[in-house]
Amino acid sequence: MMNIGILTSGGDCQGLNAAIRGVAKALYKEFPDELKIYGIQDGYGGLIHGNYKEMKEDDFSGILTRGGTILGTSRQPFKKMRVIDEDSVDKVQNMKDNYKKMELDCLVVLGGNGTHKTANLLAEEGLNVVGLPKTIDNDIWGTDMTFGFQSAMEIATDVIDRIHTTATSHGRVFIVEVMGHKVGWLTLHAGIAGGADVILLPEIPYDIDKVVEEINRREQKGKRFSIIAVAEGAVSLEESKLKKKEFKARRAEMKYPAISYRIAEELEARSGHEIRVTVPGHFQRGGSPCPYDRVLSTRFGTAAAGLIKEKKYGYMVALKNGVIVPVPLSDVAGKLKSVPLDCEEIRCAREMGISFGD
Ligand code: F6P
Repeated sequence: MMNIGILTSGGDCQGLNAAIRGVAKALYKEFPDELKIYGIQDGYGGLIHGNYKEMKEDDFSGILTRGGTILGTSRQPFKKMRVIDEDSVDKVQNMKDNYKKMELDCLVVLGGNGTHKTANLLAEEGLNVVGLPKTIDNDIWGTDMTFGFQSAMEIATDVIDRIHTTATSHGRVFIVEVMGHKVGWLTLHAGIAGGADVILLPEIPYDIDKVVEEINRREQKGKRFSIIAVAEGAVSLEESKLKKKEFKARRAEMKYPAISYRIAEELEARSGHEIRVTVPGHFQRGGSPCPYDRVLSTRFGTAAAGLIKEKKYGYMVALKNGVIVPVPLSDVAGKLKSVPLDCEEIRCAREMGISFGD
């Protein structure tokens, strides 16, 4: 018998179900009469609390295009994994116990950076684990692309496109806030694809006066509008000099629901322009995966099944130069794939006059 547990952890994104389906279909094909798949509910929470159920082959049909995750998900911070809370639950021990109870040959985890840190912890504890990289942020070290990113980029780009028409009609300055707290891949790509005039990323602290300069420069050239794509994790030059604690305290005091509203107020005061803000938020993670993500998720899913067939555990499947390869979980854990300041996308954007507020 081959017993496999599958869970999805962290924020959801498009392509999770397509990837689950890829893993399951490839495994059922390889082990038609000897496979048991347990669906673990709501991420690591389900593994901690023994919330899982045996799935049937049919459960994995008709889910290729479905958004969200059929398994449910939750955020279980890695830094709390070894902490015993008031409920006296030893999370790591519970996960090991439930893994044993299900008599798993392998635990398949679909998730982002935090998920892979915990996956590595479980591998270090002796469990067989295989990871799949999901997130709209595309910030997982070791893979060129995560599933969810392209779908979210299409949505964010569509928002910028639509805002463009209204900005043109009214002759206004618009801010579109794109998801991404720590990294700016999504904002950078959607910003370029949507023709934004200014792109503010967490990796490049902005000087508000430089943004005003760009708006004024465009106005002097006779442009009726400007579009600013702002990552939700954008930081000002002044904030970038603060220690982490001070920065957090400053942001906790911030009266605005999102950074874009603060930027809008500062720009209005300095430029005299009417500024409007659009924050699509979780809209960017919703709905059906785009065809690219359906294919990528399916490739990752079948590659994960391939690792299980080979009994090659302790890896995350990754896309490297167009090819799916295994990357050790120990290499992935604890790293972040930020936007390199000298990457081609930033270079080409600068070459055509897009401002990064620096
Ligand atoms: O990691 C994906 C992501 O959508 C980030 O872009 C965003 O900062 C975060 O999750 C939002 O998290 P939550 O869904 O918990 O509000």
